[in-house]
Amino acid sequence: MQDARRMQSQSCTVDGTMMGSLYAAGDRRSGRMCGIIGCVGDENVTHVLLQGLKRVEYRGYDSAGIATIDANSMNVRKGAGRLAEIEERCALSSLRGNIGVAHTRWATHGGVTDANSHPHTSCQERVAVVHNGIIENYVQLKKQLLGRGHLFKSETDTEVISHLIEQEYARVKNPLKATMLAAKKLRGQYAIAVLFQDRPDVIVGARKDAPMIIGVGDGKMFIASDVLAFIEHTDRTIFLDNLEFAELTKDRVRIFNSEGKQVRRKPTQVAWELSDLTKSDYAHYTRKEIDEQPRTVASATMQDQEALAAFARAIKGAKSLFITAAGTSYHAGLLMKSRLNKEAKIRCDAVLAGEFAEHLDWLGRGSTVVVFSQSGETADVLDAVKEAKKKGAKILSIVNAAGSSLARESDVTLLLNCGPEVGVAATKSFTSQVMVVNLVVDSVLGKRKANDLSRFSRAVEETLETEPQIAELADEYKEKPDFYFVARGYNYPVALEGALKLKELSYIHAEGMPASELKHGTLALIEKGTPVVAINPSGPLHDETLSNVEELKARGADVIGISDVHDQVYKHFVRVPKVDWERMPVVEVIPLQLLAYHVAVARRNDPDYPRNLAKSVTVK
Ligand code: F6R
Repeated sequence: MQDARRMQSQSCTVDGTMMGSLYAAGDRRSGRMCGIIGCVGDENVTHVLLQGLKRVEYRGYDSAGIATIDANSMNVRKGAGRLAEIEERCALSSLRGNIGVAHTRWATHGGVTDANSHPHTSCQERVAVVHNGIIENYVQLKKQLLGRGHLFKSETDTEVISHLIEQEYARVKNPLKATMLAAKKLRGQYAIAVLFQDRPDVIVGARKDAPMIIGVGDGKMFIASDVLAFIEHTDRTIFLDNLEFAELTKDRVRIFNSEGKQVRRKPTQVAWELSDLTKSDYAHYTRKEIDEQPRTVASATMQDQEALAAFARAIKGAKSLFITAAGTSYHAGLLMKSRLNKEAKIRCDAVLAGEFAEHLDWLGRGSTVVVFSQSGETADVLDAVKEAKKKGAKILSIVNAAGSSLARESDVTLLLNCGPEVGVAATKSFTSQVMVVNLVVDSVLGKRKANDLSRFSRAVEETLETEPQIAELADEYKEKPDFYFVARGYNYPVALEGALKLKELSYIHAEGMPASELKHGTLALIEKGTPVVAINPSGPLHDETLSNVEELKARGADVIGISDVHDQVYKHFVRVPKVDWERMPVVEVIPLQLLAYHVAVARRNDPDYPRNLAKSVTVK
């Protein structure tokens, strides 16, 4: 019988049914993982848990929940849906307790339902567990536990852990020992954090093949699957090793190996930037960084308003205006050029940094050069800046690395705020550049800042859900020798970017070009089954591009359409959400990033470290 005083479990129904369903079959394939945060202190920890959940939201999830112990009562509130909705419907912030664990779930075993959300409690409801990973032998364990009269409330593999621990705890009366004994029975992967209703002073954590990190605070201890979950509170961390257990009280952390022997480990300090440098549970940084984009597109817009105004003023007041960059950053520069030319009626040239010397005669006092670079250290870019400065030009830069040479050489700098980009291929930095381009051009135009970021972030999340379809396309076309990417107008730089990503990661020959240019030679190369990606959003250039697609189809091409509107002419169609046209490059490029990534993986290339390419090209 449930003791209502001890246990106040609440499952909240939240409208979020579409979320996650595409990935329910397996988080490892999608690269998405659940998130854990736990905290014990001497004051209410609910806000810490909520903040931690928000921090790990970027990993992807379909449900979330929190358990705290307050006045010897275990309080569990959880539900399917988005965190903001769950927070409101389940009144998460009204939970009380100086100890708690919280979780964002991405469904693997059992559908996206309130009951399947974590934390999971045992039948006596004296134990609450949050878990990342998969318990491979849960079916056998569940059978045994059912045979012993345990009652299950969910379809998850995780719930067996709570019942096992409860069973052991009844015997040994020691949270750490009970967890260790239960863990011995588990096969598979796990990172778990466990609460015991009659021990409101202790959290037990354990890990096997899934990350778990301890945060050592002052009178407060944290446990999480990602440093980001608690980095605001402490930068002193202990990374649990495989098959280790941790016992956290507000003033002490003790770590034990699987034999129960205490292990001494000093905390290490992580810099804020370093916290972002972990691969988390992703197979590759590149994949993780692609997944971060719902968050990074929003953080790109958090700009110093004075710097933004100064940037726009310098563009408007320039006697001559140039944009320069290399690689992916150049493609973002082309987008800026297009908007400045067409909308702001400001003439400017975009020049590859390595070719910049050819244009120096047009520079002098009163000239302005806008420079894009993720690293801020690309040799060609720095060279262009040096020469432009010699001519007296003003340097405006859009950079990710705040302390970089480019940032230091610039008169005004706007930062991408997308965190360190570890994968060699530029992914999240490109979409952040697109966001900053739009901010700058809107500021030049005097347009009011759009206030719909959360809607846009959701559109980016929705775009990431094209992944299973993209993975299939990657499989189908991975052996093709050539790929073409076509688009018109403002979307043409996206075609260039798609081709660059594919070349870089898959080593397949790829070309990006205006769809209009095809008939001037390239059509001769189209054979039966040649893959052509057409980026063709709705808008004034849509129908013209469609005619080009017809031409391609007539010559046997397999055309993959990327658009918000379907047409039967495409052999394959990848639907992306309709967003403001200026932001369409963000949602169009994500399937192309995923395509490059999946083709690379299918061809057994390492997408993080493609051959012959460095993250920062610091030599000319
Ligand atoms: C493409 C890529 C490179 C860089 C280029 C410029 O995925 O990573 O082409 O875009 O080397 O680098 P940054 O932006 O650091 O100047």
